[in-house]
Amino acid sequence: MVQKRENIVGLDSAIFMHPKTWEASGHTQAFSDPLVEDKKTHERYRLDQLLEAQGVDIAAKNFDELKQIVMERNLKSPVGNELTEAKKFNLLVEAYFGVTEDNRSKAYLRGETCQGIYLNYENVLRSSRQKIPFGIAQVGKAFRNEITPGNFIFRTREFEQMEMEFFVKDNLAESSKWFDYWKNERLNWYLALGFKKESLRFREHAPNERAHYAKAAFDIEFNTPFGWKEFEGIHNRGDWDLSRHSQYSGQDLSYFDENSKEKFIPWIVETSVGVERMFLMVLLNGYREEIKNQKSKIKNQDSEVRVVLSISPLLSPIKAAVFPLVRTDNNLVKAARDIYESLKDKFMVQYDEADSVGRRYRRQDEIGTPFCITVDGQSLQDQTVTIRERDSMKQERIEIAQIKNYLSEQLD
Ligand code: GAP
Repeated sequence: MVQKRENIVGLDSAIFMHPKTWEASGHTQAFSDPLVEDKKTHERYRLDQLLEAQGVDIAAKNFDELKQIVMERNLKSPVGNELTEAKKFNLLVEAYFGVTEDNRSKAYLRGETCQGIYLNYENVLRSSRQKIPFGIAQVGKAFRNEITPGNFIFRTREFEQMEMEFFVKDNLAESSKWFDYWKNERLNWYLALGFKKESLRFREHAPNERAHYAKAAFDIEFNTPFGWKEFEGIHNRGDWDLSRHSQYSGQDLSYFDENSKEKFIPWIVETSVGVERMFLMVLLNGYREEIKNQKSKIKNQDSEVRVVLSISPLLSPIKAAVFPLVRTDNNLVKAARDIYESLKDKFMVQYDEADSVGRRYRRQDEIGTPFCITVDGQSLQDQTVTIRERDSMKQERIEIAQIKNYLSEQLD
């Protein structure tokens, strides 16, 4: 999103932010989940999730409609107790600086990273020589006081977002054009990273389901074992953000177009993905258990099952592992260590000499390492090694001098 594009710049903004920022963004007022509490156990639940679990389609329902359903159905908690009346529970996480806890010392940990982008928009515009349309992207922590974190790392209170805000001309036609463009680009990005087409889909938000800032919103969803789930949101935020920040800061954030001589508040098209959610989707998409001996089909028997994390080499944490065939031969160990040393500046590589070479392959398969390089007797004669590819398990012999080029080509 940044390195390969001329019209997007990267940013790292602050995590603690002034309450005024969140008033301007609308979050102190509208960033909430519907909360109900079990009157006996005092366990708290998200009302939309309780209703969903009972088969109610909550997709297009607003807060008042959800409340209405509770009354009509006389909804009880999962353990059968009375529930309190639903209230709106704000998700922003507060912090206090210094020794007093009053409004002057109050701050919020950012609830979405993009607010830091809007606060720095003017700085970036002045210092980067960008012209509209252009984007600012950021990877960083966000914090939300989630009522029901869960599903492993799917919903947490501290998480990381990768967000890109694309500033465009102030009209629906132009912003819709870019909205469609980014929807397409983002889907293609996941496909290029090896996501299966059939496990991805777009879901459009109904008008009363959209966040307070959104004129249009689509989620990219993944078919997880716990249902279709959002892991990226693409939003047309209109002029909401920059006009509100202009208003609350007293700083005119309108843009002057040199060519048309027009002055306007840019509209924003946003792409926003959670790193942990994407990580989870990568694991779900790539994890595979291959039963090697079809006759026996004994799934849990160590030698029969090959666990493979079949992920794009671009995402593999370790790009290659280097082994001596056996660790009892000092010459093989030295040659393998020399190769490891020669690669480690450029690639994330591991050296491993413990256990049989078969077990070492399995260990690397499980963590998604795309290539294993083995030094054997022949290596000492002709300066070649075997290189084994994770998914096909095919091995080829290449010259030691060619390993760097080989890996660079495969990982490009
Ligand atoms: N700036 C727009 C925004 O924050 P969002 O739909 O609230 O939109 C965007 O969040 C993405 O952030 C989601 O698609 C999801 O991947 C991730 N995300 C949101 N809340 C999360 C949580 N509690 N735990 C993990 N990831 C979360």
